[in-house]
Amino acid sequence: MSVTPHDVTLITGASVGIGADLARVFARHGHELALVARDGARMEALADEIVAGGGRRPLIVQADLSAPGAADALVAEMDRLGGRVTNLVNNAGFGLIGRVAELDRTDQMRMIDLNLRALTDLTLAFLPAIRTSRGGLMNVASTAAFYAGPGMAVYYATKAFVLSFSQGLAHELKEEGVRVTALCPGPTKTEFFERAGVGGSPFGPMPMASSMSVAQAGYAGFMRGKMVVVPGLFNKLLTVTSGLQPRALSMRTIARMQMGRAKGAVSKGDMT
Ligand SMILES: NC(=O)c1ccc[n+]([C@@H]2O[C@H](COP(=O)([O-])OP(=O)(O)OC[C@H]3O[C@@H](n4cnc5c(N)ncnc54)[C@H](OP(=O)(O)O)[C@@H]3O)[C@@H](O)[C@H]2O)c1
Repeated sequence: MSVTPHDVTLITGASVGIGADLARVFARHGHELALVARDGARMEALADEIVAGGGRRPLIVQADLSAPGAADALVAEMDRLGGRVTNLVNNAGFGLIGRVAELDRTDQMRMIDLNLRALTDLTLAFLPAIRTSRGGLMNVASTAAFYAGPGMAVYYATKAFVLSFSQGLAHELKEEGVRVTALCPGPTKTEFFERAGVGGSPFGPMPMASSMSVAQAGYAGFMRGKMVVVPGLFNKLLTVTSGLQPRALSMRTIARMQMGRAKGAVSKGDMT
């Protein structure tokens, strides 16, 4: 049976957290979607919710994007399903809390495969369709992109890559009318910290944003063609002043917040 191709916004890491709320926001604004993550049941539930809200049923692709060849497989799957990717939201990502020397080497390389390799490969793979349609690209970076992060050093470095890559690409594509946005959330209430190896937030009593508020700010900035979106006043302040703070000082603060919270760590020097 042949499928009629239609334009979609493809969102990675759309089973939960910021990605799921980005899906809700894009759907609410009339975008047809393709959802990608490993947990098919959660994406089916989200698809049901979107249909109940009046949206078209999203395409669903269950995939581990950190696996070799994941981008090629996803391109082939989108062709098979008839989804033409005109907007790509690279949101899937994870962090690990702990010292580089103590965290598992394979896990850290998997973080690079997902946060950085898959994000770049998907961008390159879908860029021709995005350019043809004058669509756009949203890459989810982090306020971590503006700092060096002892206690999460590889994670911070992956996000610095995402920010730098997105800004460079935004500049290259600006004349063509293709928008590229780096969404840089601060601490946000999702499963991120649990998956990173801490029970709660490493930031103690500091309030965390809701994933919906981050998604709404991201969508609004993306539609306005903003190159960098940092949701929240405090986070904006942190990012604009990052270059003014001596690195040694910011690293000491970040290390104290993060290292004491790693599972099994003795929380010496913990700020909270
Ligand atoms: N939460 C924060 O404080 C915060 C702050 C700044 C930036 N961010 C960034 O925001 C993005 C979303 O994180 P979140 O906070 O929403 O975390 P989350 O609740 O843990 O969600 C992560 C999403 O990524 C998907 N994912 C993880 N590994 C995957 C893989 N190998 N292949 C495909 N999908 C995968 C997960 O789905 P499955 O498990 O179903 O695969 C899930 O949908 C990440 O890039 C993160 O770095 C988060």
